[in-house]
Amino acid sequence: MTYSKEQVLNALKNVIDPDLKKDLVSLNMISDINVDENKNISFTVTLTTPACPLKESIKKACIEAVHEFVDKDANVTVNMSSKVTSKRPQEEEFLKGVKNIIAVASGKGGVGKSTIAANLAIALSNLGSKVGLIDADIYGPSIPVMFGLENAHPEIIEINEKPKMVPIEKYGIKVLSIGFFVDPNQALVWRGPMASSALTQLFRDGDWGELDYLVIDLPPGTGDIHLTLVQTVPVTGVVIVSTPQKVALADARKGVSMFQEQAIKVPVLGLIENMSYFTPEELPNNKYYIFGKDGCKNLAEEINVPFLGPIPLVQGIRESGDAGRPIATDPKSPVTLAFIEIAQKVAQQVAIRNETMQPTKIVEVNH
Ligand SMILES: Nc1ncnc2c1ncn2[C@@H]1O[C@H](COP(=O)(O)OP(=O)(O)O)[C@@H](O)[C@H]1O
Ligand SMILES: [Mg+2]
Repeated sequence: MTYSKEQVLNALKNVIDPDLKKDLVSLNMISDINVDENKNISFTVTLTTPACPLKESIKKACIEAVHEFVDKDANVTVNMSSKVTSKRPQEEEFLKGVKNIIAVASGKGGVGKSTIAANLAIALSNLGSKVGLIDADIYGPSIPVMFGLENAHPEIIEINEKPKMVPIEKYGIKVLSIGFFVDPNQALVWRGPMASSALTQLFRDGDWGELDYLVIDLPPGTGDIHLTLVQTVPVTGVVIVSTPQKVALADARKGVSMFQEQAIKVPVLGLIENMSYFTPEELPNNKYYIFGKDGCKNLAEEINVPFLGPIPLVQGIRESGDAGRPIATDPKSPVTLAFIEIAQKVAQQVAIRNETMQPTKIVEVNH
């Protein structure tokens, strides 16, 4: 005898996605069910992100459910696939193909925001997603140096009679920075409105195409550029970077409250702790907590946002950034693994946010 597809579907209703807290059938994750008379059963599970850290455990749970509810002797083949979800409002005119916009912010400068943004983008791409990166630090763009793109000049093309900037592609990431359009030796003195309109252009006039994640590297603090960002695009969520040091944490807290403000309401995907500890090369088992221990983890618990993980203070992170090749491009570095784990957590939080919350609204400008 053969089984019915419905039996398989009913069995899979017992598998709950631990993040989204619903069963795989209700989440529309099951497709392509095939059964035959030789007790072979196969189907596809489409997860919400290729970076899903729960991939193996979900696969195992599916096989167990079929064995329990259909037949303990069935030969089960599960094809794991993924499609990044989106909660973008339909009516927008630009960035149509971009599924999720992730801002990387901090309170204090110099805590490693750009370093995290660059390596996070690369880690997400290594996990199989299409990724873009906007350097929104209009006053001190550092992405061109970190990507070795100091002399890059994006091509301008015409699409529907409108000029569009083609992002530069490097290490699998589509990149645009205001640094591509100004002399790197000149101080960037912008008046507020000029800086804002420069940022808007990177969004509006960039030929971004289809992306799963567009990462935005913000300037420090909570200024004009942050307001322009939330007034220009619906930000899926923000990641806050801090060191474990008291003064940095105090500013990180301000950053979080700005995005959580009633008028802005951008979901906070979590905190990343940078420069968590230092390990000297000659003493690989020693960890020195130069800036204090567990600062971000404790803050995350206190303000009830996810802790996305630590990144150590490592000479190679600084060197690779200065050399124009972020460390996450090196598959042999242990730091790459730390960035992969953080990228998985970020993707997981985006998926949860898309399943459980309303789309972010663009903040209205009040004059
Ligand atoms: N985890 C780290 N280990 C070593 N150096 C780091 C680390 N994170 C950042 N840096 C270095 O610190 C400096 C400031 O980092 P950056 O990412 O530019 O900070 P921000 O964007 O917050 O101003 C850079 O020179 C960078 O290479
Ligand atoms: Mg920076």
